Amino acid sequence: MKVLVVGSGGREHAIAKKVSMSPKVSKLYCAPGNAGIAEIADCINISANDLNGLADFAEKEKIDLTIVGMDDPLVSGIVDVFEDRGLRIFGPRKNAAIIEGSKAFSKDLMKKYQIPSADYETFHDPSEAIEYLKSSKYPIVLKADGLALGKGVLICSHYEEAVDGVRLIMEDKKFGSAGDLLVIEEYMTGREVSVLAFCDGTRILPMTSAQDHKRAKDGDRGLNTGGMGTFSPSPFYTKEIDTFCKEKIYQPTIDAMKAEGREFVGILFVGLMLTAEGPKVLEYNARFGDPEAQVVLPRMKNDLVEVCEACIDGKLDQIDLVFEDNAAVCVVLASEGYPEHYKKGYPIFGLENFKGKEDYYLYHAGTKREGNAILTSGGRVLGITAKGRDLQEARQKAYEATTWIEFENKYMRTDIGKAIYQ
Ligand code: AMP
Ligand code: GLY
Repeated sequence: MKVLVVGSGGREHAIAKKVSMSPKVSKLYCAPGNAGIAEIADCINISANDLNGLADFAEKEKIDLTIVGMDDPLVSGIVDVFEDRGLRIFGPRKNAAIIEGSKAFSKDLMKKYQIPSADYETFHDPSEAIEYLKSSKYPIVLKADGLALGKGVLICSHYEEAVDGVRLIMEDKKFGSAGDLLVIEEYMTGREVSVLAFCDGTRILPMTSAQDHKRAKDGDRGLNTGGMGTFSPSPFYTKEIDTFCKEKIYQPTIDAMKAEGREFVGILFVGLMLTAEGPKVLEYNARFGDPEAQVVLPRMKNDLVEVCEACIDGKLDQIDLVFEDNAAVCVVLASEGYPEHYKKGYPIFGLENFKGKEDYYLYHAGTKREGNAILTSGGRVLGITAKGRDLQEARQKAYEATTWIEFENKYMRTDIGKAIYQ
């Protein structure tokens, strides 16, 4: 089979690596890819948002299966474009990817189908939002409705801060048209867990759990980022919680989407808050998480291509998902200053230290090749994953491996996975 992976981050490197291990695959492409993906796939210089360009390529090269890593092309309808041309692609159609593309849609869906989540109101008009904030309980959460690179959520501790937030999102359009509509949500407390699940439109098969660290700095301080590191599994995601989520959240979500005429095929990423009242949904995404994929996929025993095909064919009942009985930790090496201003273009040293080392995975994110050198070219540069017998061992191995890599302005959090021992 010829397979095309769409995207260019650490997540797509993890997907491409897993796809490359499938005995079914004879040729692997990635668009646009990065310097690390180029070692296992032919990287094609087509933007992930050039839907017709990608479909032209898939047609010309007779690609048997396309797997989309990123949210943007899914929300824009890449699956519809491919399917209209008779091309096989793994991911939700536009009318289902809206579960990530519009927070107001997902909140309304959860309310209508009684899926546990935080209370909320939506607003088109900033002055009505500000009026509502006068009698709200604090802290409170403001969410821009649309896609905002994971940064469109503001947690406000008092009224004045919330008013500034409304102005930033709805008037200054800090996140562009994503802020045309605003969701104001009740603040929840508890442990966060990410669960990614394969879906075939009717069935949903959750993978092992993971936890992300979204803030830039140790101790969950600093700005929200795309994710600074992950661990899997989450020790807080117990069997009882899993059973509850399957009955009250995962299957009801897939059933709700089907009932709405929006059959969901692809990866449903459920962001959960384990509150004192039980698990509640924080958010849905319509794709693998980044860097959740970097700890979940290395632990998966199944052939990823086989599972994706079962989803497309509506045959997920024939798949038995199996994960290794171990743990994985991923530490992101970023450019100092991320997620705001940072410099790039610095050579990266030590990449060869990972060659032939079992249990260690080096995932490229913002890297590019120039001649013989590999240079930093983004905020999140590399993700280093290590597997161990348990989280403690995986964490110790992952941090040891971070010392094998050097580049100017290298920055990482030092507490990925640490909270689990406190
Ligand atoms: P989201 O993009 O919706 O996952 O939000 C980003 C982050 O904001 C989440 O991972 C949580 O840490 C936080 N967050 C979002 N919604 C809430 C909420 N209702 N209560 C508390 N924290 C939240
Ligand atoms: N790591 C969070 C996300 O991919 O949305």
